[in-house]
Amino acid sequence: MASDTHVFAAPPPGAAADWTIPQDWDRFSDAEHGVWDTLFERQSALLPGRASDAFLRGIDVLRLSRPGIPDFAELSARLMDLTGWQVVAVPGLVPDDVFFDHLANRRFVAGNFIRRADQLDYLQEPDVFHDVFGHVPMLADPVFADYMAAYGRGGLRALEYGSLKQLARLYWYTVEFGLIEEAGALRIYGAGIVSSASESRFALEDPSPNRIGFDLKRVMRTDYRIDDFQQNYFVIPSFDELLRVTVETDFAPLYAELATLPDIAIADILAEDRVITRGTQEYALARAAE
Ligand code: PHE
Ligand code: FE
Repeated sequence: MASDTHVFAAPPPGAAADWTIPQDWDRFSDAEHGVWDTLFERQSALLPGRASDAFLRGIDVLRLSRPGIPDFAELSARLMDLTGWQVVAVPGLVPDDVFFDHLANRRFVAGNFIRRADQLDYLQEPDVFHDVFGHVPMLADPVFADYMAAYGRGGLRALEYGSLKQLARLYWYTVEFGLIEEAGALRIYGAGIVSSASESRFALEDPSPNRIGFDLKRVMRTDYRIDDFQQNYFVIPSFDELLRVTVETDFAPLYAELATLPDIAIADILAEDRVITRGTQEYALARAAE
């Protein structure tokens, strides 16, 4: 997830100045590896035909189907060959500037714990399954790998402009909850979706959420919810196009303009939106009535 809340103000004992810690892979118990395997099997059954080809290719080329929680050293060696990225362990959420600096230098920070067997469907903080299964396959795609590093540089810049809230929405609606149009159909690529059995179905098949064509400025004005399924998904036409529009746009004037515009409420649809599916919002309404 985006690191918009953080737990510690300085690296905790045992962490390096850049907040990384040894993964200490040997420490994981059989039961913990078993939780990974259960989650992996469940998602692998769901994702063909639902996840973007780039994501499925990443699972394959990184050999993520081998049993157990991946060893970051081995995973990083493969990833380094493909796109120059590494996976490093951190003790939990890290400060924004630390997070962005790692991304800008092609290091993806991953949680060093795994959820318990009785928490397969829901957890508050990103664990190694969300971080590695959800995020790392896309980092094997050269275009997406460039996007993530550019985002890190953009994050450091957003901090200077005081516009982190706007930039974080871009991360949320692409890296975490993005959809893509592929071969005339919608596919999922956001880590928050592909690592969740229920949201993998909901994002594509449920009548409740809106599915709207991606527009950079629009996305950066749109609120999001962190505690339930999204009511809004934004659909990119291709990873090339996502990279092109974000890299070619200077965000400084955009941040200045955004400061003059109202935020857009989560489920609102604007006249200029390219609406792919107008959601019924029935899921959100039912949850609100509970
Ligand atoms: N072009 C952006 C800027 O000027 C940086 C950025 C690139 C942000 C890619 C996000 C993704 O700040
Ligand atoms: Fe995440």
